[in-house]
Amino acid sequence: MTQPRNKVVIFLGPPGAGKGTQAERLAREEGLTKISTGDILRDHVARETELGQRVRPLLDAGQLVPDDILIALIRAYLAEMEPVRVIFDGFPRTGAQAQALDMLLEELGAPVTAAPLLEVPDELLIERIVERGRQAAARGEAVRSDDTEEVARRRQQVYREQTQPLIDYYAARGHLRQVDGVGTMDEVYARIRQALG
Ligand code: AP5
Repeated sequence: MTQPRNKVVIFLGPPGAGKGTQAERLAREEGLTKISTGDILRDHVARETELGQRVRPLLDAGQLVPDDILIALIRAYLAEMEPVRVIFDGFPRTGAQAQALDMLLEELGAPVTAAPLLEVPDELLIERIVERGRQAAARGEAVRSDDTEEVARRRQQVYREQTQPLIDYYAARGHLRQVDGVGTMDEVYARIRQALG
């Protein structure tokens, strides 16, 4: 049997662009592991671990968690992976995270395959996030503390200042794949598949 090859996909895009939704489906269909840093951090908050208690105020406020915490988390996840077949959702989010990830991947001999960027207008992003909060509340489910309009707008601002520069970072390395993120989930997924070739 041939060994499955390394594959590293990095989903880029603002809060609410559909990264988690699309990464989930691609991971299922391609046999990849989805690493969502937001999910990992929310799980720590829910379990009230030491890390969870430390990061909770940052998540509530829509601010980024310090780079060293995220880089240590990702290092631990990748250390257990052979071959490296992974989709990142929500990581990297700063230049320091992107550089650290490149170094980790180089050590593992698993370069970035592609970085799809989901593009969605700002107001639609806010609508999607607020709607998710509304629906969760209506169903009696836990509502994400950052799914209010006020925090969603702050997350957008943080994205613009700290994460948007990564678009140039991945474009310069030939990894960027721009994808129109407006339309049904199936339509967006089909565009991602096409962009990944
Ligand atoms: P994280 O959990 O990563 O959240 P986010 O990136 O801000 O965005 P979302 O999860 O809201 O959006 P998404 O793009 O995944 O879209 P989704 O598929 O969910 O981060 C949360 C926090 O954790 C950060 O603020 C920070 O504090 C911390 N953190 C995480 N990673 C970090 C890092 N690397 N460094 C530092 N701090 C970090 O879709 C959104 C909604 O839209 C859903 O309801 C979905 O059903 C709907 N939707 C999706 N696609 C469509 C479509 N085509 N049409 C209609 N609705 C759609």
